[in-house]
Amino acid sequence: MPSLKHGEFVGSLDCGTTSTRFLVFDKYADIVAQYQIEYPQYYPEPGWHEQDADEIMDSCDVCITEACKALETAGWSKDSIKVIGITNQRETAVAWSRSTGKPLCRAIVWDDGRTKTTVAHFEHKLAYVGLEPEPGVIRKGKDGEHALKDLTGLQLSTYFSAIKLRWMIDHHEVVRKAHEEDDLLFGTVESWIVYRLTNRSVHITDVTNASRTLLMNLRTLQWDPVMLKFMEVKPSVLPKIASSSEIFGKIAYGALEGVKIAGLVGDQQGALVGNKCLKQGEAKCTYGTGAFLLFCTGADIVSSKHGLLSTVAYQDGPTGKPIYALEGSIAVAGSAIKWLRDSMGLLANAAEINTLAASVPRTGGVYFVPAFSGLLAPYWDPGAGGLLIGLSSYTTPAHICRATLEANAFQTREILESMKLDSKKELKHLMVDGGMTNGDMAMEVLADIGGFTVVRPEMRESTALGSALLAGSAIRLFGWNLSKPETLVEVNTKGTREFKPGMAELQREKKWLGWKRAVERSLGWEE
Ligand code: G3P
Repeated sequence: MPSLKHGEFVGSLDCGTTSTRFLVFDKYADIVAQYQIEYPQYYPEPGWHEQDADEIMDSCDVCITEACKALETAGWSKDSIKVIGITNQRETAVAWSRSTGKPLCRAIVWDDGRTKTTVAHFEHKLAYVGLEPEPGVIRKGKDGEHALKDLTGLQLSTYFSAIKLRWMIDHHEVVRKAHEEDDLLFGTVESWIVYRLTNRSVHITDVTNASRTLLMNLRTLQWDPVMLKFMEVKPSVLPKIASSSEIFGKIAYGALEGVKIAGLVGDQQGALVGNKCLKQGEAKCTYGTGAFLLFCTGADIVSSKHGLLSTVAYQDGPTGKPIYALEGSIAVAGSAIKWLRDSMGLLANAAEINTLAASVPRTGGVYFVPAFSGLLAPYWDPGAGGLLIGLSSYTTPAHICRATLEANAFQTREILESMKLDSKKELKHLMVDGGMTNGDMAMEVLADIGGFTVVRPEMRESTALGSALLAGSAIRLFGWNLSKPETLVEVNTKGTREFKPGMAELQREKKWLGWKRAVERSLGWEE
């Protein structure tokens, strides 16, 4: 074998909901080597979604090993990887034993809906017992909801990880006992991975993942004693909260033994950073199964009055100022296309939606509200029903395909309208990534219906790139410095394409009103 070259690269371990990947980037964000595998998902009851934390970890180990082999095959020594970042599916909860390091039960995944009764319990508690944000000041009912939102940026929902932790303590005897005996350790996926990669020596999370628990105070960036008391969780089970960009520890074994871990970020915030949306007014949307739109609000915490969440976007180092974002999620984006393909048989493959939609100039009056499991932001209506409306004997699969792409665009506009109202800032353009952005037609419809410019980079591993940028910035690799965006100008610039809105304003607004009428009919469908 010819001798291997030595370069300077940054690695990113991206542990998403269905697969893990490890990517190696150079200073321009070109991918030098990568490896990806899927790992098992478990659905033991309707609405439940679990993963085995050991299997997640195994997938990380395999990806690191195989990507390093691919790097060597490409002629580079693995010593060229100077630092790694980690990014992850965010609210998935892992509980393990302090004494053995073994998971105590399966991880509960972010979209698992089993915790409805836990949420109902805390809603009741908030209504009648309330929170005590200052000694002697009790805030209950609506006032309590505002206090909770003000502290955490969130609202009570099955989505957030401490609700899942509470469920584990209440329903798994082994977790309850570990909690009582101080043997319980809790973390989201990045926390578990760092714990294992460092041979159980570091129990840590970062501000972005901590901001999705319901336990972190958005201002102090620390676990909030008021919330800990409210949720009856002992502080000893929680990881230490760190910034998103600093040296957290070193990998203790395997192909990258000794390499520093220096970036930690939840995947949606990772994509925000990877799209270089680092300043107020910059936004990205990742279109996967669902879609996640994050709008950077800079150093300001903007409390939404229009159904959005406030969250930490990133913190550049332990002394760096936290940067915040407003977030809106769409539950059904790419999964509507999957439904057209797998359940309705209208498509041979997902990409075909673009050709079919392009074969007709309009939807022929059809609107599709894909509220398969209710609607998230800005409505938060679990009872909203999915509907196709405006059908006639003229309607063809092509019209329904076009209406599906439009639904995605309408839902994006809904969130952006709320963001504008909350932040009083105009959006410059929307950066996009995720599987659904591969189709040009989908992007044209998004720009037309949304009425904004869509910017699509060619290299769209934005989530992984975000954690790589955070890790690189921590050691100033390539001169990267997240607090100085000008140091990132050369990163990921190739093949970027803009889609400008082409539809006449009058036509756009007419369609928007049609969408609003369709949503009205969908809301509150189920009791
Ligand atoms: O909040 C959930 C989100 O982090 C999941 O993202 O891309 O792993 O489905 P993804």
